[in-house]
Amino acid sequence: MDERIVSGENVDQEEVFFETSIRPQLLSEYIGQEKVKHNLQIFIEAAKMREESLDHVLLYGPPGLGKTTLAMVIANEMGTNIRTTSGPAIERPGDLATILTALEPGDVLFIDEIHRLSKAIEEILYPAMEDYCLDIVIGAGPTARSVRLDLPPFTLIGATTRAGQLSAPLRDRFGVVDHLEFYQERELQEIVTRTAGILTTEIDELGALEIARRSRGTPRIANRLLKRVRDFAQVKGNGLVSQEIAEEALTLLRVDPRGLDTIDQKLVKTIIQSFRGGPVGLDTIAASIGEERETIEDMHEPYLLQIGFLQRTPRGRLATDIAYNHFGILNEKGVHK
Ligand code: ADE
Repeated sequence: MDERIVSGENVDQEEVFFETSIRPQLLSEYIGQEKVKHNLQIFIEAAKMREESLDHVLLYGPPGLGKTTLAMVIANEMGTNIRTTSGPAIERPGDLATILTALEPGDVLFIDEIHRLSKAIEEILYPAMEDYCLDIVIGAGPTARSVRLDLPPFTLIGATTRAGQLSAPLRDRFGVVDHLEFYQERELQEIVTRTAGILTTEIDELGALEIARRSRGTPRIANRLLKRVRDFAQVKGNGLVSQEIAEEALTLLRVDPRGLDTIDQKLVKTIIQSFRGGPVGLDTIAASIGEERETIEDMHEPYLLQIGFLQRTPRGRLATDIAYNHFGILNEKGVHK
């Protein structure tokens, strides 16, 4: 029997193995995000020349665009270790103190979802980022006293899907702030081709382009779709990922020609069909389609806005003519090309 069906744990391990084996290790292997890479290249080189740690870096943008990968590449390029944690994992001040005091000079501390740190934790982070020191309070009540510990110089790399939710004092303490953008089709095509090479999967240019087109500008999605199409090519074809196989497999997986998944489709169709195209508030949409508001805001809306299917207005979300056309629905203007 297929192990993946009976053991959830194996799925995770396989996913972790997959993600780590295909991750680029160097800036020169990282495809896309040219401006971000160019700047980082210079800051990394300068820090190395001065034998200093790199300034703190904030990476923000939609999920799946390679923030974690980039943090690992930065640590690798600096020749340092990387310690990885996330905002929700740091619950108490002691958790952060444990992490900070274990750092070695030059290490990278990567905090994913940094917008979810509590205020109390953020306040410990400020002096740590600014002066490499840690103020800890020992005891409680009238006998409580504050002790200042020195920390080694380190680089904090914070990642967030929501830069707007970061407090201003925290945001201001990052010397480098970079926004990751959705990838171009040809960049995703290159990523898919590179991943196929690592997986020793045969793929042609049009096969890679078809997967790229349906990946919503997101490498994580492109690589996942490649895996599914590869299975399909093996079982239904001769192993080669061609355009025809990709189209067939992705249609079966309900990924439409623009890469919209079932939730994206439901979201846009609900605005069109239940709310006459909007404007309609996000909470109303969330309740109608049974998804969390945050999931819609982080995972679905950014791409739909980017491709012009949705517009954000002060009165809510609006489906555009492009969206009506895509689903072949006539609007009151009779648009449906
Ligand atoms: N795999 C995932 N993201 C990538 C990227 N930006 N470049 C190369 N390989 C990747």
